[in-house]
Amino acid sequence: MTTANPRRSTHPHVAVVGATGAVGVEFLQVLEQRNFPLSSIRLLASPRSAGKTMKFRGQDLTVEALTDKSFDGIDIALFSAGGSISKQYGPLAVAAGAIVVDNSSAFRMTAEVPLVVPEVNPEHIGNIGLKPGQKAGIIANPNCSTILMVTAMTALHRAAGIKRLVISTYQAASGAGAQAMEELRQQTQDVLDGKEAKPVIFKQQYAFNLFSHNAPIMGNGYNEEEMKMVKETHKIWGQDSLPEAARTQITATCIRVPIMRAHAESVNATFEKPMTEEAAKALLAKAPGVSIIDDREANRFPMPLDAQHQDDIYVGRIRRDISQPEGKGIDLFLCGDQIRKGAALNAVQIAELLLAK
Ligand SMILES: NC(=O)c1ccc[n+]([C@@H]2O[C@H](COP(=O)([O-])OP(=O)(O)OC[C@H]3O[C@@H](n4cnc5c(N)ncnc54)[C@H](OP(=O)(O)O)[C@@H]3O)[C@@H](O)[C@H]2O)c1
Repeated sequence: MTTANPRRSTHPHVAVVGATGAVGVEFLQVLEQRNFPLSSIRLLASPRSAGKTMKFRGQDLTVEALTDKSFDGIDIALFSAGGSISKQYGPLAVAAGAIVVDNSSAFRMTAEVPLVVPEVNPEHIGNIGLKPGQKAGIIANPNCSTILMVTAMTALHRAAGIKRLVISTYQAASGAGAQAMEELRQQTQDVLDGKEAKPVIFKQQYAFNLFSHNAPIMGNGYNEEEMKMVKETHKIWGQDSLPEAARTQITATCIRVPIMRAHAESVNATFEKPMTEEAAKALLAKAPGVSIIDDREANRFPMPLDAQHQDDIYVGRIRRDISQPEGKGIDLFLCGDQIRKGAALNAVQIAELLLAK
C-alpha cells in the first residue's frame, strides 16, 4: 500500500474526493479558513456532479468526475465519498504517489493504516510523509463519535487510566450526509404542515422522533457504529495489541436524534486511580481541542448549537459518579461538530501534520 512519490512539495497538490457532500463542502471551508498552503486543488465527485462549480478562495472551481486518472500529480487526497469509493480509489491514489487521508471506515482497522486524531496520537503517522525518504500511504480518520470522545477523554485517560467507558450518543442528521439533512428538513416542514412524513434515507420518521442509529446490527446485538467506538478507541489508545482484559472496557449505545448538526455524547468513565471533579476539570481545561461549558448555577452545559461550526469539543456536566464510592468514576456530557472535528477538520489537521514533518 506504499510507493515512492517523486512529486512531493511544501505546497502540495490536493484532491478532495466527495467534494459535493456534507464533509466535502466542509473540507473546502476548513482548508480556506486555515489558509492551508496548497498549490492546487482538484474537486472530485460522482459523474452526477461533473461540471458543477464550487467556490474556493473566491474562485469558481469545476467539479470533475472521479476516474482512475484523477490522482495524477496529486500529493494529498482527502477522501469522503463512502467506503466503497475509498476501497476502489484509495490504493490507486497511493499508487499514483499521493497520501490519502480517508474519512470512511474502509481502512480504519487495517493494521498498517494509522488511525489518527492529531491531538491524541500524531506519532502513529510514522514514516508516511511528503519529504524525500518518507512514504506515500493511507491515513484513516476515525469515526466521528470516536473522534469527539477521544479528543475529550484522552487527557483523563493519561492521568488516571480509564478502565471502563459507558457511552450514549445523540447523533445529528448531518452524520449521515447531505441527503439525511434534507430528509430532516423536509419531514419537519411536512409534519408542521399537517402532512405525512415520508422516510427515504432512514426507515423511521425522523422529524419529532429519535431512533437507534441506522448502522447495521451485528451478531452481538451492537450496531456497527457502537462497535466502531469500541475498536477504534482501542487502536487510537494503542491498546489493540493488548489482551482483552488489559484494554479499556467500552460499551456504547448510539442514537440518531433530530438535530441538524453536531453530535452529543454522555460518557461515564471508571478510572484505575481516583479522579476528583476538580482534577477532571483542570485536565479538560488544558486539553487541546477541548472547551468547558459547565455552569451549574445557570444550568448551562454544552448543546449541539454551541458546537456547530466550531473546532473544539465542548464538555460539561462534569461530576463525580456517586455510584462509585472510591471516587474512581466521572460522568460528563460533550458536544462536537462531527462534520468539522469529526471529519473535515481532523483530516486537514492530519494534512497539516504532514506538512510540518
Ligand atoms: N457526515 C459526517 O459527519 C461524516 C463524519 C465522518 C465521516 N464521514 C464519512 O465521509 C464520507 C462522506 O460522507 P458525507 O456525509 O459527506 O456524505 P454525502 O453528503 O452523502 O456525500 C457523499 C459524497 O460522495 C460522492 N460520491 C458518491 N458516489 C460517488 C462516486 N461513485 N464517485 C465519486 N464520488 C461519489 C458524492 O458525490 P455526488 O454529489 O456527485 O453524488 C458526494 O460528494 C462517508 O464515508 C462517511 O462515512 C461522514
